[in-house]
Amino acid sequence: MPVFDTKKELKSFLQKERSKNHTVGLVPTMGALHNGHLSLVKAASKQSDTIVVSIFVNPTQFDKKDDLAKYPRNLAQDIQLLKTVNPEIVVFTPSVEEIYGDNLISESYGFDGLDAVMEGKFRSGHFDGVGTIVELFLKTVAPDKAYFGEKDFQQLQIIRKMVELKQLSTQIIGCPIEREPHGLAMSSRNERLSKATRMEAGFIYSTLQAAKSKFGTESAKDIKDWVTVQFAQNELLELEYFEISEETTLAPIQEKQANKKYRAFIAVYAEDVRLIDNLRLN
Ligand code: PAJ
Repeated sequence: MPVFDTKKELKSFLQKERSKNHTVGLVPTMGALHNGHLSLVKAASKQSDTIVVSIFVNPTQFDKKDDLAKYPRNLAQDIQLLKTVNPEIVVFTPSVEEIYGDNLISESYGFDGLDAVMEGKFRSGHFDGVGTIVELFLKTVAPDKAYFGEKDFQQLQIIRKMVELKQLSTQIIGCPIEREPHGLAMSSRNERLSKATRMEAGFIYSTLQAAKSKFGTESAKDIKDWVTVQFAQNELLELEYFEISEETTLAPIQEKQANKKYRAFIAVYAEDVRLIDNLRLN
């Protein structure tokens, strides 16, 4: 399994692959891989000839130093897992210096306001950091397709916007959310939860499902109030936000329009771990 840690080595490898007319798929990750990540790798393996998986904990997208320091890292295990899915995967594991040199700053994008709500509102600078690293990976790898999970639905829409604004030619593919058996969306951060809290966190998904069933008959305001009360009564989980938004603009719903798609978005603290999830409502 080829593992590269410099852009130069990766580019020269990919040049040879392209000379064989291979299409290239990219799956960007921050490692601590789980079945959510692997579902993207499997989708990529079906659609592209050469698959690059990047493993890079990107410092510029962390708004809290502590969250960056505690982010789980386990490269040897990640490589073993990837081998089980597809032994021909190309792994890109650059150092922070290789990516940023001594200039650890991100570009300011704007993203047509997509970053003004939800994750963007609560995590200052987060999406500029995501945009910066994903743009760099897309320019380095120049993939035909790049794969992102709907788990981070706002991120997916922001990357689509960045690709449009920067006129990049990569097709962005969104993949469904993989969940633990009790409904909690898989996340590298779940590893930091105690067993009891991890089980209790299934409540996030069951509340989203209940919100979905109310969406046909109740107003968005009533649903939001109901969700707030549910979490106020829960001793282990603290609600940061619950929002019902239109899928493309991510604007919070005003009046429901028949031809539009809506999603519920949620962020919750469990112990000191921040968990996010979302569910399509119609
Ligand atoms: P990371 O959190 O490692 O996630 C990498 C990719 O896996 C993202 O596209 C994410 O949406 C997807 N993913 C995570 N959990 C998933 C799940 N349960 N089901 C489906 N897909 C899931 O997202 C990032 O890294 C970073 O922001 C990155 C895009 C790599 C830029 O640094």
